[in-house]
Amino acid sequence: MESVFVFDHPLIQHKISLLRDKNTNTKEFRELVSEIAMLMGYEVTRNMPLKEVEIETPIGIAKTNIISGKKLGIVPILRAGLGMVDGMLRLLPMAKVGHIGLYRDPETLEPVEYYCKLPVDVEEREIVVLDPMLATGGSASAAIQFIKNRGVQNIKLMCLIAAKAGIERIRKDHPDVEIYCAAVDEVLNDHAYIVPGLGDAGDRLFGTK
Ligand code: PRP
Ligand code: URA
Repeated sequence: MESVFVFDHPLIQHKISLLRDKNTNTKEFRELVSEIAMLMGYEVTRNMPLKEVEIETPIGIAKTNIISGKKLGIVPILRAGLGMVDGMLRLLPMAKVGHIGLYRDPETLEPVEYYCKLPVDVEEREIVVLDPMLATGGSASAAIQFIKNRGVQNIKLMCLIAAKAGIERIRKDHPDVEIYCAAVDEVLNDHAYIVPGLGDAGDRLFGTK
């Protein structure tokens, strides 16, 4: 699966284990999501273009590199994607942030849109969509389609736990989109929750259940 990258770094794997633990409290959960997003962001941004510049050091002139062009845009899917924003912004403080609000209808399991606000120059940026959970893939697929409808050509999806079904859905609907995740789980339950997963990411992040 060359368009799917699963992070096997020990720090990420360790933190994912803590995140899955039902005894991890809201404060710890929030901190872990943020930390994992930052660690993953380091790799997700690996191919950002550079340009050479000359910098005057106290001793002389250094030919060195800086990131060229417009910085990334990041787009969390509300609510749970919000937990990954500050980790990414610690790496990319100048990144623009769009928001897409979607929830899964509990009956149909289809995503329902309630909010969409993207940066005005979104089509000039590479966009990383953030959502901790990729279950059926319906939410992420719809969010990616909104972003494509605005003319964006380079989109990556960053999630923490992905179900095989969700990966397949994204590969089918958006074969051009690379998926970055920290774990792949086999199955979904009857309510389309990832098993074993980590439960409801939004509720665990915000303490709403
Ligand atoms: C969760 C999660 C994803 C979606 C994944 O959001 O954060 O957005 O479900 O499921 P899917 O791949 O089957 O679409 P939820 O709908 O629970 O909303 P919330 O983040 O507001 O809690
Ligand atoms: N959304 C979640 O928060 N968790 C799941 O397991 C599936 C969808």
